This record gives sequence, C-alpha cells and structure tokens, in this order.
Amino acid sequence: MGLFISFEGIDGCGKSTQMVMLKNRLIDLGYGVMVTREPGGTPIGEKIREILLDKSNRGMEPLTEAYLYAASRALLARQVIWPGLVNKDFVLVDRYVDSSLAYQGHARGIGIDIVYAINAPAVNGLVPNITFLLDAPARELIARSSRTPDRIEEEGEAFQEKVREGYHILANKYKDRFVILDALQDRDKLHEEIMRTVLKKVRGD
Ligand code: TYD
Repeated sequence: MGLFISFEGIDGCGKSTQMVMLKNRLIDLGYGVMVTREPGGTPIGEKIREILLDKSNRGMEPLTEAYLYAASRALLARQVIWPGLVNKDFVLVDRYVDSSLAYQGHARGIGIDIVYAINAPAVNGLVPNITFLLDAPARELIARSSRTPDRIEEEGEAFQEKVREGYHILANKYKDRFVILDALQDRDKLHEEIMRTVLKKVRGD
C-alpha cells in the first residue's frame, strides 16, 4: 500500500505549488506517484466542482454544500484514491475531508461532528497518513493573491480566518497525522520541510 498524503490550508496558502514540487521530487527519486484534487478528480466530481464554485449559485445552503463535497469525495475515494494506493507508492491529494470539516463544519457553522458524520461513509475509513496544513493569517494570503476569487473565496477575510481556526481545532484533534507548516516562508524551505517529513515516514520513524 502506498502512502496517502493530503494538503490543506485556507485559500491562497500555496498548497497546490507544494504538492507539485513534492510530486516532482518523489518521481525524480523513482517513486510511483498519483496526484488528484478536491472537489473534482473524477469526471462527475469535476461537474460537482463547477456547481460548488459557480458564483451564480448564491442560494446554496451550507448543508447542500457539505453534501456536494462529500458526494464528490465518495467517488474520488473509491475510484481514484483507493486504487491509487494499491498501485502507487504515493497518492497526493489537494484537499480532502479536513477541508469539509474546516470550511463547512466550522466556518459555515454546521458543526465539525455533523460534517464528519456526513463524510464517514464517503471516505469509509480512508484517512491520510500525513496531512500538511499550510498555515498563515488570512490577511497576509489575501494581500499576496492576484487571482480572481471563486464563490468560496469571495467570502472574504473573516470567513477565511474562521476556516483557519477550524484547521487548528483539527490539527489539535488529529495530532498523529497533522503537520503544521508556516505558509509564508520561502517555498524551497517549505518544500525541504515537507520532504523531510515524508522521507521520515517512508523510513518508518
Ligand atoms: P481548491 O480547488 O483547493 O481551491 P484553491 O486552489 O483556491 O485552494 O478548492 C476550491 C474551494 O472549495 C476552496 O475555496 C475550498 C473549498 N472547499 C470546501 O469548502 N470544502 C471542501 O470539502 C473542499 C474540498 C473544498
């Protein structure tokens, strides 16, 4: 079985860049690596992603949002992540269940436990071995961002700060797999820190 690694953080934290850097490095070392993202990662999942990020969908209920993310995740876990872990050395995911717990559970106010219950059948026990949380104050990340915000990103700084708070609750709860990293540090240094943690896990210490 491969190692399952998720990348988490508020919008604009740089996790996608770090995921690509890790993927390339592991491939250079001769490992088999699969990468995927949430929401999406499957043809149906990408359609669900469009609904979720579409700015015209203003009438979305938080619970509807939570179920849609879980619906996309159920497919991804069964059809992509699980087979990936069987066939490859590493499966890297750009967001997983912790995103739903932090965004929908904590920031949208549904409750972390309720969103966990919605997601339990979707992930069916498939939990990452390592979860990298790229952490930084929302204000700093918004200031350095240059892209057009999607429906969730449009919620603004207070919402993103609440998501960050949610992530900290989760990191505290799941200490065995969460690794909190300073997202504002130099990206090469960040990459080296990630690489050290991954290689340590591979060696089994
Ligand atoms: P993502 O594609 O990772 O965007 P970004 O590259 O900006 O991080 O995620 C899209 C948005 O969906 C992002 O704002 C976070 C949100 N999201 C949730 O609210 N709940 C979830 O379960 C997931 C997976 C994402």
